[in-house]
Amino acid sequence: PIYWYDNQFLPAEAVRVSPQDRGYYFGDGVYEVYRVYGGRLFETGLHYERLARSAAGVKLALPFGEAELEGVLTELVLRNEVREGTVYLQITRGVAPRNHLFPADAQPMAMAYCNEVARPVTTMEAGIKTITLEDTRWLHCDYKTLNLLANVLAKQEAAERGAGDAILRRGDIVTESSASNVMIVKDGRILTHPANNLILHGVTRAVSLRLARAEDIRAEERPFTVDELLAADEAFVTGTTVEVTPIVSVDGRPIGSGEPGPVTRRLQRAFARAIG
Ligand code: PDD
Repeated sequence: PIYWYDNQFLPAEAVRVSPQDRGYYFGDGVYEVYRVYGGRLFETGLHYERLARSAAGVKLALPFGEAELEGVLTELVLRNEVREGTVYLQITRGVAPRNHLFPADAQPMAMAYCNEVARPVTTMEAGIKTITLEDTRWLHCDYKTLNLLANVLAKQEAAERGAGDAILRRGDIVTESSASNVMIVKDGRILTHPANNLILHGVTRAVSLRLARAEDIRAEERPFTVDELLAADEAFVTGTTVEVTPIVSVDGRPIGSGEPGPVTRRLQRAFARAIG
């Protein structure tokens, strides 16, 4: 595979990462994961907007503008000949001896690579079991930073308990999952946590809300409780890697019929049309 690292396209073997990169010491950086459908990057505008917000939130000056970045990532996809896949992009605060204070002269360090990844058709069809866990993250979950340890631990615990993902709650309120946003359906209406500081403002979340409204499905952004989740007719997660994946159970209790529901299915079909 060809990487983009330190402003150059390089074969993977030629990438030399410094142990002094602040990404290692502090998780001091931001990232994005893009979907590639049919050889084309999906929703680059929404990704750039979020990247710029994340970078501003952690006071990191992006070393490129929107058009320049899109050019680089498009070339990366082409060079790797990826048709269905993902692009991972991260920008750290750069290379400098370990010190909590921002280095005076370090340059932000950008890295991106592109992989062939099939759409998750099996889990989108069957749905996933989930568990709930307390959301122990900081209060800037809207910045997509490299500090993902709480997310990693949640996902790992879900797997160890035989579940596909962990749904996070702050007290009684459902925020999101370890790597996707959560939506429920009650009486034909979609509910999802508002895009504030407690969740990542998912690109797939925004696309799903847009598609739902275009399908005349009512969709409301307001917090809902774990009890509302358990009593929902349907529930699903949205994310770049999971698209629209049904949740069939929570903590061993079935959601609705225990099968993917009709509104979820409609949204999946609308999504498939939108990327086709
Ligand atoms: N995760 N919430 C969290 C905590 C996430 O990490 C993600 C994405 C989402 C969904 O956002 P989007 O629809 O823009 O992918 C929600 C990426 C894919 C990851 O970390 O791998």
